[in-house]
Amino acid sequence: MNPDLARLQPYPFERLRLLLAGNTPPAALPHINLSIGEPKHATPKLIFDALTAALPTLSNYPLTLGTDALRESIAAWLARRFGLGAIDPATQVIPVAGSREALFAFAQTVVDRTRAARVVMPNPFYQIYEGAALLAGAAPLFLPCTPDNGLRMDFGSIDAATWSEVQLVYVCSPGNPHGRVMTLAEWKQLFDLADRHGFVIASDECYSEVYFDESRPPLGGLQAAVALGRDRFDRLVAFGSLSKRSNAPGLRSGFVAGDAAVLRQFLHYRTYHGTAMSPAVQAASVAAWRDEAHVVENRRLYAEKFRLATPLVQQALQTSMPEAAFYLWARAPIDDAEFARRLHAQCNVTVLPGSFLSRMRDGLNPGSGFVRIALVAGQAEVVEAAHRIAEFGRSL
Ligand SMILES: Cc1ncc(COP(=O)(O)O)c(C=O)c1O
Repeated sequence: MNPDLARLQPYPFERLRLLLAGNTPPAALPHINLSIGEPKHATPKLIFDALTAALPTLSNYPLTLGTDALRESIAAWLARRFGLGAIDPATQVIPVAGSREALFAFAQTVVDRTRAARVVMPNPFYQIYEGAALLAGAAPLFLPCTPDNGLRMDFGSIDAATWSEVQLVYVCSPGNPHGRVMTLAEWKQLFDLADRHGFVIASDECYSEVYFDESRPPLGGLQAAVALGRDRFDRLVAFGSLSKRSNAPGLRSGFVAGDAAVLRQFLHYRTYHGTAMSPAVQAASVAAWRDEAHVVENRRLYAEKFRLATPLVQQALQTSMPEAAFYLWARAPIDDAEFARRLHAQCNVTVLPGSFLSRMRDGLNPGSGFVRIALVAGQAEVVEAAHRIAEFGRSL
């Protein structure tokens, strides 16, 4: 067996399952799950319709590169959404089976294991980055994101000798778990470092379409590159997804877009990995990327839930509206795992302890003391859960 498998950490939801295993929550209170970031709003009918209309295409093997129609619809969406002058659907876009597999596979493509290899990532973070780095033979290098540093990755905290070993940097903007969006100044610093030290940037943007002010969509990595005169997206690959944008996590549809030279190698890797997207899923994805009305409506639903739930949660926990994404990142008044365990035991509401999303480094676990509350359930459930959290929090 591959010995690196033993280095993989248990997934946060496995740890949560063990944490809650001994609980017998009150049966009178229906269970409300706000732990997992799984969208619960209805998948738009236009996706079902396109998917079923395309079922006859199942008789064909799909290409790893996907259809022209799919890459063109993604490129057109990217150009519209991020104001990109030109993005070439032939060389700068590849469809992927959800951003998760692509974020993992990307490290396997980029990392050169014949020399020292480090992969930089935020802490707390989406755990795939860590597993991807470990199985690529690289050492994860965690940058703590805490309220003290404004939840940003402090790239300036890494010295030149360490940067010389960095081959890949994962950034997540809007961030999971806190929803923070990287600024243009941070992008500039990161691009400058990438040019100097030769690493590749993987920009995880799967929450880019969940935000609260229609006039202020979050800045994307490709958009930042163009704004800084990097029209060819050197060293940058952005990861997008329909899962959260279009409430279709089961469709398994996303894309990578950016530096054509890097994507050529990624396509080569993927040909062997065998992750071509089903032709019917491709057709449904074309319909989804071409429509914006359902995405606007989706945002309206989230904004309403945040408007109702945030002040309730704030009655007991310190938290604020995120810039984007669908999580409240809230300070727990007691140990975060104990908070989550007792909240479930007494109120039948499940949230995720922040320490399960982060690693201890230099005596600091930047997720500990926080809980992540995913406002994914329906409005009535989210409001009911917020009331229960407020009451429980006040009782501590
Ligand atoms: C930060 C982040 N990146 C990527 C993903 C993967 O999303 P998908 O594979 O559905 O595109 C998730 C899913 O929860 C996530 O939270």
